[in-house]
Amino acid sequence: MPSIHVTMCVCRRFPFARLLPLARERGWDLDDVMRETGCGDNCGLCRPYLRRMLSTGATAFTELLTE
Ligand code: FES
Repeated sequence: MPSIHVTMCVCRRFPFARLLPLARERGWDLDDVMRETGCGDNCGLCRPYLRRMLSTGATAFTELLTE
């Protein structure tokens, strides 16, 4: 089983660790994150991770998340 380590929006090359403080500071929800940064708005694969990041504050993930 290959290991999973997701820490960024690959399309935008935007690390979750940099995105989270920005989102918290500005009170962004997922739609705001997508509109303001483009993260989650391209291939969309990071979207479930962004959602989890916003709800839990986690910025690194080792499990496969899907919508
Ligand atoms: S990895 Fe974030 S939109 Fe593709």
